[in-house]
Amino acid sequence: MAQSDRPLLARDDSRDSIREANEEDALLTGQASPTSRSERSRSQKYREAGLSVYAILATITIVALAIVVNHESRRAHAKTPGNRWGEHGKPTGKRNLIFMVSDGMGPASLSMTRSFRQYTEVLPKEDVLVLDEHLIGSSRTRSSNSLITDSAAGATAFSCGMKSYNGAISVLPDHTPCGTVLEAAKRAGYMTGLVVTTRLTDATPACFAAHVNSRAYEDIIAEQMVGNYPLGQTVDVLIGGGRCHFLPNTTEGSCRQDDTDVVKMAQEEFGYSYVDNRKDFDNLRGKSGVKLPLLALMAETDIPYEIDRVHMDDMYPSEAEMAQLALDVLEAATKDSDKGFFLMIEGSRIDHAGHGNDPAAQVREVLAHDKAFATVLDFLEDADAPGVVVGTSDHETGALAVGLQRKHEVYPVYAWYPSVLANASHSASYISHKWAAYLDSRTGQKASRKKKSEFIRHELFQKDFGIYDVLDEEVDSIIDATIFWPPSWIFADLISQRARIGWSSHGHTAVDVNIYASDPKHARALVGNHENTEVGKFLADFLEVDVEAVTRELVKKRMRTHDQGEDDWAWMGPMRPPFSEASHDQDLHAGLYRSRSGEHFEAQIHEGQVLA
Ligand SMILES: *[C@@H]1O[C@H](CO)[C@@H](O)[C@H](O)[C@H]1NC(C)=O
Ligand SMILES: *[C@@H]1O[C@H](CO)[C@@H](O)[C@H](O)[C@H]1NC(C)=O
Ligand SMILES: [Zn+2]
Repeated sequence: MAQSDRPLLARDDSRDSIREANEEDALLTGQASPTSRSERSRSQKYREAGLSVYAILATITIVALAIVVNHESRRAHAKTPGNRWGEHGKPTGKRNLIFMVSDGMGPASLSMTRSFRQYTEVLPKEDVLVLDEHLIGSSRTRSSNSLITDSAAGATAFSCGMKSYNGAISVLPDHTPCGTVLEAAKRAGYMTGLVVTTRLTDATPACFAAHVNSRAYEDIIAEQMVGNYPLGQTVDVLIGGGRCHFLPNTTEGSCRQDDTDVVKMAQEEFGYSYVDNRKDFDNLRGKSGVKLPLLALMAETDIPYEIDRVHMDDMYPSEAEMAQLALDVLEAATKDSDKGFFLMIEGSRIDHAGHGNDPAAQVREVLAHDKAFATVLDFLEDADAPGVVVGTSDHETGALAVGLQRKHEVYPVYAWYPSVLANASHSASYISHKWAAYLDSRTGQKASRKKKSEFIRHELFQKDFGIYDVLDEEVDSIIDATIFWPPSWIFADLISQRARIGWSSHGHTAVDVNIYASDPKHARALVGNHENTEVGKFLADFLEVDVEAVTRELVKKRMRTHDQGEDDWAWMGPMRPPFSEASHDQDLHAGLYRSRSGEHFEAQIHEGQVLA
């Protein structure tokens, strides 16, 4: 964390040096590395590397020094006078704030991912994640109505700085709206952005730029996010999945209940430029003068899990790539402004892998988020205006345990096996979809039980999951699965058992989660253990924006965008009592899996994930 402790050799502050680091890894380990190295751990690796690579290292050192010197002089010239850090760890003028949410990531996810990376990339045992090096505190996560929060109440604590009930999208327990840090930032002249790997209409992003009584109202959320609500257009950069909620129900690939064309609304009423595919996305990268506001809907629903996405890289961008684009366009757009920007970036699907109890998928999600965090650190280092990145989770998901006692009569071994996770090349969710597609195919429909067993053994377990010691009863459990305990949960359980990874829930838990920052000096108020609302208060305080003024504006401007009678708050969707524990899952299913076709619903249930 402390700059001065870092060996000069190992600086990786520029994008160039990340590439260098990857090349060095390839040299040292004989395999390509997908992520950037941390500085300290890289130097440790050098020490252990042995004489044979000294010559290579000497060359690299000279190159690295040249980059550092060049980089430093570039920075010295770039800094505009007046753009400075003040005495209390806060900038005196223009500033940028990036807030990163690792949805569903608890402390155990970090331990698991750290060891996984050491194993797969042949790194020393001291090697840590970039996040590990920026840990500054922890957050208590309960909501107003439950000791275990959901993502909606969790994100409302961040966006409004207030506790609310599970399911609330920036509305308070009395069903009045609360102004958000993003809205207040926009009002104050900052540019704003949201980047997620799930649907943009999902709870976390929704809480920053929408107000509805239930997270299930994703159709309304889509409209509000592009500006169809009392505050008008407030988000300048929207990048993520969830296209189906923006397309009218008359269109292929829509999951809306009505025929409102939210993409058209965004373009014609609120001036958005729109992209919906990888090619157009790539065309925006590295281009100056991208027209804002920008709406980039990169997937019909969620962007695939990283473990699956890497096989479809020509279709879907990574979290780090989306983050980079948002940072670049927001920086360009605020170049001549005396205000910077506020950007929220979410590693959304760490949570989904937790709900699915899929450790092979989760370690790749955490690595992708770690890489996005490194991307933001690099940006801050280079940026003209001072800025900070703060990261935290809304809650833990799955009650992940890095260790498992499989049989109660046998004392457990003290070990877990990253090699099992490394062998998998797809998520349990992907594999169960492949199984469902096989059953639907003509071959599958005609297949005998024996043929089905062979398919499961070879095409699923061996080819996609890297599991070769499958038992007959395990194959049978897949064939005989029901929608109440679906194949994806069984696949995930079988890989977890083999790796000795434990889960005690398919839902969220109450454990405290970590808080990270680019530098504890610039996020002093979050050092130590804090209530999640304090994270929200920090965000507004760092930007020096007035969230309460936005609340007052929302209250004053009561308006009726939806035809729901005389209720002043009708624009926030029907008011409902807070979710009870019993109705919680049902409500989520109704909202998240709402679909015009029964088939789609079946497929989603088949997948067996409660995405909350
Ligand atoms: C599409 O939405 C309209 C209302 O906007 C509704 O009347 C119609 O029934 C919907 N169609 C389908 C197929 O859901
Ligand atoms: C990983 O896959 C290989 C085949 O590619 C197999 O021989 C090995 O047993 C698998 N390892 C584990 C831990 O399952
Ligand atoms: Zn969740």
